[in-house]
This record gives sequence, structure tokens and C-alpha cells, in this order.
Amino acid sequence: MSETTPNDFVVVANRLPVDLETSSDGGPPVWRRSPGGLVTALEPVLRSTDGAWVGWPGTADVDLAPFTEDGLTLHPVPLSEDEVTEYYEGFSNATLWPLYHDAVVAPTFHRRWWSVYERVNRRFAEATARAAAPGATVWVHDYQLQLVPAMLRDLRPDLTIGFFLHIPFPPPELFLQLPWRKEVIGGLLGADLVGFHLPGGAENFLYLARRLFDLPAQPRGTAGGGFIDLGDRRVRVGAYPISIDSGQLRSHSEEAAIRLRAKQIRSELGDPETVLLGVDRLDYTKGINVRLEALRELLTDGTLDPEKVVMVQLATPSRERLSAYAQLRDDVEREVGRINGEFGELGRPVVHYLHRPVDRDELVAMYTGADVMLVTPLRDGMNLVAKEYVACHGDGSGSLVLSEFAGAAAELRRARLVNPHDLEDVKRAVVEAVNEDPASASRRMKSLHTQVMTHDVDRWAHSFLGDLTEQGRA
Ligand code: ADP
Ligand code: G6P
Repeated sequence: MSETTPNDFVVVANRLPVDLETSSDGGPPVWRRSPGGLVTALEPVLRSTDGAWVGWPGTADVDLAPFTEDGLTLHPVPLSEDEVTEYYEGFSNATLWPLYHDAVVAPTFHRRWWSVYERVNRRFAEATARAAAPGATVWVHDYQLQLVPAMLRDLRPDLTIGFFLHIPFPPPELFLQLPWRKEVIGGLLGADLVGFHLPGGAENFLYLARRLFDLPAQPRGTAGGGFIDLGDRRVRVGAYPISIDSGQLRSHSEEAAIRLRAKQIRSELGDPETVLLGVDRLDYTKGINVRLEALRELLTDGTLDPEKVVMVQLATPSRERLSAYAQLRDDVEREVGRINGEFGELGRPVVHYLHRPVDRDELVAMYTGADVMLVTPLRDGMNLVAKEYVACHGDGSGSLVLSEFAGAAAELRRARLVNPHDLEDVKRAVVEAVNEDPASASRRMKSLHTQVMTHDVDRWAHSFLGDLTEQGRA
């Protein structure tokens, strides 16, 4: 560990790439990789740019000085227990998260949560102002920190500020429900460049800025982007679909030890003809029950044979104190129990369910060894799991069933796209994936693989940061 000096490139996100975990048996706290796609995507970017990362260390009431860990410069922002409840679990994950994901669970609007969200955003802006060198580039991330761009601009007008939203940006009729809608758009307008995964998100934002602030906004003529004229400066808006470190993952999946482990996993599962796989944070947006219900109905009507098919569902615990998440866990575990109760045998469950994160080697072996990947969210900004699976199948094996409502569906057009609200459609896609002729399945997977290899996270970061630099100079 060492003291740090101000940096020319600073990433700001609610979480640091590592969480400080305290152990219940009184042992020393340990740093563990933080959950979620944001960290998966940003960590390789930050490593290659030698920047600093401002974020919360994942545990309440931990106040640490900036330090370097495993080559990354980290600036921890402390949150009290009440702030975790009201800013993180409350406004971020019980107001914004459901509102921005099509209100699949009803969002809660709470004035006190809003004031704590403002207070914490200010703290992040102040920590960033301290971490950034004169004239630095700052990249703010995600829905938890939408007020940071404007707050930071007030504190440090010398900085070039980018903002990227990792989740969907909702259609105006949903966004306009938010009592603090004007403040949120005003916060984002503090950035020089505001980026979304998809053109639709950029269009929604341009429309809302125009409508709520009566601002002239000019579409740029390319995929959903444009400019908003603020008089003294212009904000650029664009679509930048995020990705993964595809090359690294492909090489990892080709290692002999991973191939061997993939075979071992299949044998531990009883060498079934078909292994279906789901990998998610345990979140109600992910449609985990959709795929379990589809599987149960296919077993019930005899279309799938429980002696030939096994499903593995990995579910990382997430936001466990929120009731919607606790309810989801009960529902998923009931469904898993029901399938195994009806169709499993002693020592041979049909669904293998792990409620914990697995380490990277094991995850890559599971991707590599699975015949069909099931990605069925009701709404998802991108879904990196879909891209990770494809990156591990450069040999053309495997099949991807993918929800139309995941951002990844815009690029992965040759996946088996499904409407997760239509159970018959999901069942049809699973059956087709299980029975597809190998030559046609291989053509499909190879074309998906090429797409993921040529559109990696490096390209995403370069494209966003290139536009941000241009905008900063304008
Ligand atoms: P989200 O960001 O909403 O969690 P993504 O699919 O975009 O969804 O990203 C999830 C990330 O978390 C991926 O990099 C995936 O590999 C990782 N992940 C998800 N579940 C697990 C698990 N059980 N064990 C290890 N990593 C996981
Ligand atoms: C998604 C969000 C991230 C978040 C991650 C994990 O990827 O876009 O901002 O960090 O989920 O969720 P958590 O609430 O555990 O940080």
C-alpha cells in the first residue's frame, strides 16, 4: 500500500473493483472481486490506462485513505450503515433500478432516500475532485451516480467529464414518473459526453433533456446520438455497446487445464447428452424463473428426457436485504426443488443450483463445457454473460438462447432470440437449440464468435474515450 498522487484519468463508480469483506469468525478482512458486469468490463480498461478508481469498498462504515492494490490506484468513498440502506439499497436499487428496468417490480419513491442520494453523490464528486489532476479526464459510471457530473463540473470546471450508463435508460413515459426527473437529467448534463448501450437510450435522453429543460437538441444523424446545446457548451450523447475482454477469455477457455476441467464437470454431472447453463446475479430482471419454468414444462410433456438433460444454474447473491430479492430467491429455490422433486433421482438432480459466486477458472470451464447457454432477462442493459459464453466457443460448439430484451441481442442477432414473456417461445428455442444439426449450430456460433471477438471492451473504451477527448477539446 502507498499514498497516491492526483491522476490524469479517473474512473468513478459506486463500487471499487474489489469489496472489503469482513469475516464473521473475527479473522482479518479480505479484498474480493466485486460482483457485476460493470467491474468485469472496466477493470481491464483501467489496468491498460494506468488510471485511478473512486468507489465504495462494499462494506458500511469503512473509511480508508487512498491506496494501491494489485497495481490499481483506489480511492475509497465511505458509506454509513444508513447510507447503505437509503442511498444504495433504497434510491439506487429500489427506486432507479426497477424504474429503469421497465418497472418489472414497482419502484418506490421516497423523499428521504432522494436527499441521501444527493448527499452521497456530492461526497463522490468531492472525492473525485481530490483524485483528479489539473485538466484530467474523469469517467463517471452508472445509475447510482447520475448527479456527479454536474456537481463535479461546479467543483472542477477544468476537467473533461464523461458519463456512461450500464443499465437501460427508460422510455420517457416511465422516466417521467420520477419526482426528481429534472434534477437527474440536470446532473447528467454536467458531462461533456453521456453514453448509453443502445441508440434507444440515447434517443430517450435527448427527448427528455429537450422536454424538461426546453433545450435545443440536434440529432447527429447516426445511431440515436446527438448534441444538446446549453448556450456556453454542448453535451454530446451517443450509443456505445459495452463488451468484454474477448481475446483474454478465448485464450483462457482454450487452456488445457480448462478443457480438462470442462470434461470433468460433465462427468460429475453424470455425462448427460445435454448440459444447459444459466449464470446470473440473483436479480429479478434476469428471468431465471422463466427458463426454469420452460424446463419444467418440457420435462412434464416429455419433450426433454430427465435422463439426458441436466441444467446448471449459478446465482450470485445480490442485494439480499431488499424484499424483492429475498422473494426472488424463494421463488427460484422453490422451482428448483419442484423440478428435482418431480424429475430427479437419488444422486442425480436435474437442476444443479449454486447460490454463490464461482471462481473465474471454474466459470470459464462451465461456459466451455455447456451445450446451451440460457440468457433470458426480462430487461438487461447489455448482459455480458451472453458475450462471455460466445467468447469461450471459438470452435463453433454450443448454442445461445438469448432474450430480445437484453442489450446484447442488438449485436448477437444470430443467437436464438426469444421473448421471455412468451413461455412457448422460450420452450421452442430451447428444444431447437438442443436438437439443432451440428453443422448449422456451428455456423451460427462461429458468426456470433466473430462479432464478440471484433467488438471487445477495448474497442468500446476507445470509442467512448475518443469521442470524449474530441468533445473536451471542442
Ligand atoms: P450484471 O452486471 O447485471 O450482473 P452481466 O451479465 O452484464 O450482468 O455481468 C455479470 C458478470 O458477473 C459477468 O462478468 C459474469 O461472469 C459474472 N458472474 C455472474 N454470476 C456469476 C457467478 N455465479 N460466479 C462468478 N461470476 C459470475
Ligand atoms: C450491475 C450494475 C452495476 C452494479 C452491479 C452489481 O452491473 O450496472 O452498477 O455494480 O450490477 O450490483 P451491486 O448492487 O452488487 O453493486
